[in-house]
Amino acid sequence: MSYKNEILLDVFKKKATERPPIWVMRQAGRILPGYRQVRASVSGFKELVTSPDLIAEVTVEPLEILGVDAAILFSDILVIPECMGLDYEIIPKKGPAFEKVISSPGDIDDLISGREAVDRLGYVFESITKTKARINGSNPLIGFSGAPWTLFAYMIEGGGSKTFSKARRFLYEHPEASHRLLDMISETIIVYLQEKIKYGVDLVQLFDSWAEMLPVEQYLEFSLPYVNKILAAITGVPKIFFPKGAWSIIPHMKDTPMDAISIDWKTPPSYVRQHLGDDIIIQGNMDPCYLYASQPRIMAKALQTMDEMGQRHIFNLGHGVYPDTDYTHVQTLINTVKTHRY
Ligand code: CP3
Repeated sequence: MSYKNEILLDVFKKKATERPPIWVMRQAGRILPGYRQVRASVSGFKELVTSPDLIAEVTVEPLEILGVDAAILFSDILVIPECMGLDYEIIPKKGPAFEKVISSPGDIDDLISGREAVDRLGYVFESITKTKARINGSNPLIGFSGAPWTLFAYMIEGGGSKTFSKARRFLYEHPEASHRLLDMISETIIVYLQEKIKYGVDLVQLFDSWAEMLPVEQYLEFSLPYVNKILAAITGVPKIFFPKGAWSIIPHMKDTPMDAISIDWKTPPSYVRQHLGDDIIIQGNMDPCYLYASQPRIMAKALQTMDEMGQRHIFNLGHGVYPDTDYTHVQTLINTVKTHRY
């Protein structure tokens, strides 16, 4: 498939580009006026996330208003716990809330996984078809999933947490059951991402948003092997892995079958190069709070970041853009990157 703007795919093809490609994590929700209008017109987040026409609309909005180089399919990482049998709600100003959680190993028996679970996500695949039609050959479309540990954490906690101590406790109390659940989540993610690719997403990103919660030893036992298995099973499209906050794991990722690593704002790119070499593409890593600074300061920071990163860089933030960010500041960032030349 070829697109009018292929700069993001060119980086993965190892072509020299005149500037880094740019997209912004969480570009599709939160900050844009069209999103807010659509969001206000529905009963709740769940209605939006299951409505393919609305998904297509909010997915293309950042291409039109921000001018990013790629779209990311509007969805949520929590569709996986849901299709496995744990329904969730998003409570405004609070976040995710699950009706049922996994509180003992026996609860895992009630879940479904793999193809049977993914068959419940027809609305996601229909939204890919609708979004591709709206994009009409202009830009690539990114698909995503949460990583197994991050989804496991939500399934045990039943929502967000400062410490994820229930989820960590479960790992220590029930290591075998933890592996069983992580295996089921991983099998489901593999089928889900393969299906998204079949429907036309051009690259995928795996979000391990709560990677930073685990000690190295536990990350190496309960997260990284599952990430490696998923990334090895996904072929045919470029793969980005985002182990948020887990800089201490980076030296252990030499064999992780990813094409790019997305890094948060605390991880120095030189540290990643030192451990993972010159071949890996680095995505990131401007502090999302920088977008609250004045426009000249944002421009200066963008130029400094591009100087520091050099080639094999996808410009992005170190985490999702915060909801109260002024989107004209995001436009300034994107224009600065798009007019820069190496
Ligand atoms: O650009 C985009 O926003 C694309 C779609 C997207 C959403 N969630 C939509 C959403 C993506 C890529 C996600 C991923 C996601 N969801 C992650 C991983 C990325 C990260 O930020 O670390 C995580 C941890 C979640 C779980 C989740 N979903 C939380 C914690 C919340 C609450 C509030 C929030 O905005 O983060 C959600 C709900 C949610 N998912 C909203 C959006 C736009 C906001 C709810 C609303 O508009 O009512």
